[in-house]
Amino acid sequence: MARLRLGVLISGRGSNLAALIAASAHPHYPAEVGFVISNREGAPGLRIAGEAGIAHAVLGGRDASAFAREADLLLRRAGVNLVCLAGFMRILEAGFVEAWRDRMINIHPSLLPAFQGLNAQRQALEAGVRFSGCTVHFVRAEVDKGPIIAQGVVPVREEEDEEALSARILELEHRLYPLAVRLIAEGRVRIAGAKTSIAGASAPEFAFTNPSEERLVSATF
Ligand code: GAR
Repeated sequence: MARLRLGVLISGRGSNLAALIAASAHPHYPAEVGFVISNREGAPGLRIAGEAGIAHAVLGGRDASAFAREADLLLRRAGVNLVCLAGFMRILEAGFVEAWRDRMINIHPSLLPAFQGLNAQRQALEAGVRFSGCTVHFVRAEVDKGPIIAQGVVPVREEEDEEALSARILELEHRLYPLAVRLIAEGRVRIAGAKTSIAGASAPEFAFTNPSEERLVSATF
């Protein structure tokens, strides 16, 4: 079966891009990164694309509609079937989002719909939640909204700072993004209105708590 061809949009570091490239290196992985676009000149992720021999372009200093027009052309020319936003920190024009509807996904460092927007990890710490994590979802015109494909959970540790929590969430992102892409490539993700269902997958049976049950038990009795 032909591999799904990914177009990855980045603005910075590119560690999620690197995770997708690493997954693609696996012979049985059903997707490959075909093209990378950055809206920022000098984004470190561009070097990752270059070193992996992946075609890439910088579309900086443009307004939203020029960016959309040129990105659309480049992605189509490169034969991209699925656009992956990976730390892409710019709002996309509504027409572009519509043109790639159900063929564009994003990763966000929180359990959406909680903590949308910038600094999601800081928002989680300030809110005092016991769990945070990351979400992969289809992109809709409203930022950080759209049918959820997969989520990963990270317990928040006491006295953890933003950097430490972000690093633990990022590690999970690097596993979750390739997983979500694989599910789509295998044709297992069905969108039904505001939700998705995943063929052949189910939620874990048991809940877990933070603090852990063991500590709870000793503290309570
Ligand atoms: C990641 O944590 C990603 O979830 C986040 O930016 C970081 C990019 O890192 N994205 C957002 O906050 C989007 N709303 P990376 O460039 O190393 O992949």
